[in-house]
Amino acid sequence: MRLSGAGAGRRRRARVGRLARVAVRSVGRAGEPRTGPGTTPDDEGGTTMVEQAHGVDAQDDGTPAVAVLGGGVMGEALVSALLTGGWPADRVEVTERAQERAAQIAERYGVRTGADNAHAVQRADVVLLAVKPNVVPAVLTEVAPALRAGALVVSVAAGVPLATYESALPAGTPVVRVMPNTPAVVGKGASAIAPGAAAGEEHLALVERVLAATGLVVRVAEKDLDAVTAISGSGPAYAFYLIDAMAEAGVLLGLTRDLATRLAVATVEGAGALAAQGEHPAVLRERVSSPGGTTVAAVAQLDAHAVRAGVVAAARAAFDRSRELGRS
Ligand SMILES: NC(=O)c1ccc[n+]([C@@H]2O[C@H](COP(=O)([O-])OP(=O)(O)OC[C@H]3O[C@@H](n4cnc5c(N)ncnc54)[C@H](OP(=O)(O)O)[C@@H]3O)[C@@H](O)[C@H]2O)c1
Repeated sequence: MRLSGAGAGRRRRARVGRLARVAVRSVGRAGEPRTGPGTTPDDEGGTTMVEQAHGVDAQDDGTPAVAVLGGGVMGEALVSALLTGGWPADRVEVTERAQERAAQIAERYGVRTGADNAHAVQRADVVLLAVKPNVVPAVLTEVAPALRAGALVVSVAAGVPLATYESALPAGTPVVRVMPNTPAVVGKGASAIAPGAAAGEEHLALVERVLAATGLVVRVAEKDLDAVTAISGSGPAYAFYLIDAMAEAGVLLGLTRDLATRLAVATVEGAGALAAQGEHPAVLRERVSSPGGTTVAAVAQLDAHAVRAGVVAAARAAFDRSRELGRS
């Protein structure tokens, strides 16, 4: 049941305070390891953060309750990441229209599942929207009256602007947009998060905690999400395209398809890991290009075929399309 008036105000402040404490606990100070929910001792007097949280709201263990609306590819990746990151399964609920799929998720992750979005959000501190963009307006209409005061709404729906959520939800609802990518499924994703008008540091920190096990998470302004979509959102497809082309070349040169594919995958994975250490990619490329050697001959062909210009044009097309979809 929703609270109103002064009761709702108190409840909202208490809940936001609790979200903030949990988020700060999770992120920790620079250089400190992250710990699972409810395990960090408080260094100011021996009380645990969880005990302090109990002082605010004794109904749960202090871990925000999460409702994931939509149990498809991305919804499942988020549930998996939450549990990998140490979130208790009993603090996660998933809604899904298809009963069979809901049963599969319940069985796989031990989380509560259902088909009623409004019912699920009544219990949630964090509502994660993982439905297709065209379904978002209908889901918002459904859940707006049931949303708890102070609940954080997070959406991974591509191209749906923050304004759509903010105009459909109660005034002051904190909203954060996320642009994830599919390698999140294996904990190697890259996500950008953008805050709405009512989302503060504590909300961004909480989203970072929710996404921690999906891979890299960066903060951006909403205006940059189309560019993010063009680079990391659509980017996995560019890398798959390159892997496929390298494997095809291997077959052309006499390798079996299986061997050529395994070599191409391991090479792209290894190059990514090396580049992640921070050296400029151009320097890394020069380092493997010995004078008059094989690599420099190959890279000259990439230049002759305007591969760099092709990548830039591809990203530009994705950017334009993302803006177009956001307006429709
Ligand atoms: N997959 C990606 O790589 C990726 C990357 C970035 C962003 N995203 C975003 O993530 C969102 C989900 O994408 P996806 O690839 O996971 O799609 P998906 O696999 O189709 O998942 C969407 C799920 O939501 C369910 N659903 C539909 N209407 C619902 C409702 N009213 N209440 C509860 N559940 C409902 C669908 O069930 P039915 O099948 O029964 O309709 C489906 O299982 C999209 O907004 C997309 O833009 C995805």
